[in-house]
Amino acid sequence: MKRAADDHRVEALQPTGIPILDKVTGGGFPRPSAIALLGPIGSGKSMLVRELVTNFIRQGCSLLYYCIDDPADIVKLGLEDHHIAVDKIESEGRLEFVDMFSLGAQKLAESLPKMDPSEILDETLKFQDLLSYGRAFALKPGLGPKIIVMDSITPFFLLTEARKVFQYVQVMRFATRIARAVTIAILHTEVVDESLENATANLADGVIEMRKRSGEILLKGGTMKVLRIGRNPVASRGYFYQITQQGIVFSNTPVI
Ligand SMILES: Nc1ncnc2c1ncn2[C@@H]1O[C@H](COP(=O)(O)OP(=O)(O)O)[C@@H](O)[C@H]1O
Ligand SMILES: [Mg+2]
Repeated sequence: MKRAADDHRVEALQPTGIPILDKVTGGGFPRPSAIALLGPIGSGKSMLVRELVTNFIRQGCSLLYYCIDDPADIVKLGLEDHHIAVDKIESEGRLEFVDMFSLGAQKLAESLPKMDPSEILDETLKFQDLLSYGRAFALKPGLGPKIIVMDSITPFFLLTEARKVFQYVQVMRFATRIARAVTIAILHTEVVDESLENATANLADGVIEMRKRSGEILLKGGTMKVLRIGRNPVASRGYFYQITQQGIVFSNTPVI
């Protein structure tokens, strides 16, 4: 991010710890900011976000992690694969999970045999509850820079009217500002209406897009692009990545 030498308004940047992402963002994510991470199912968004979370923990950040698509147990295993002592960090109060997925599973176990799926989800994804976690986290006295992760917000759109989801997203943006946090919200593309994808991207202060590479069966991966970030409205070039046992590996040379 270039700015004039006499521009003294310094914006806080949270390094991502991923060299290519730090390079194209000019040093990291602006803080506060809400980042939308978009891409089709299976493109590696959750994997990328777990790597980011690992790096943020190592930088001394505190995190609120909404587990919506996958249970917190799975996320924890992923973080432990990156050698994060999850229980210790949790007990220090630096990492908090809101395990919406497991709440849903529990609701299903408790529900009557004929309960409708939407009823189970209505009982699980209660916006007021979600917001109260966000608010409490935002107001909690400092334990390093704050990061909020929502993986993913897609089920909200499948569950309720778009208007309600946008109200929720907007209030989470307020929480992001109060906390001077970085919020990363994941949205699967090609699932909800394209107008909802666009509206979500427009609300965000930064947009990262992951695309699956087509035509390759044996290699898992795709291209990543930063569509815009902070006050830089220009899209980056695309960078290839591959999904490996060790995590996501980015190519440092842009796609031609
Ligand atoms: N350790 C691993 N090694 C290889 N592939 C993996 C590993 N973990 C997950 N994957 C695969 O990586 C792909 C991306 O997964 P994920 O990050 O969950 O995608 P998204 O969150 O975008 O839907 C999936 O196809 C998944 O099966
Ligand atoms: Mg995922």
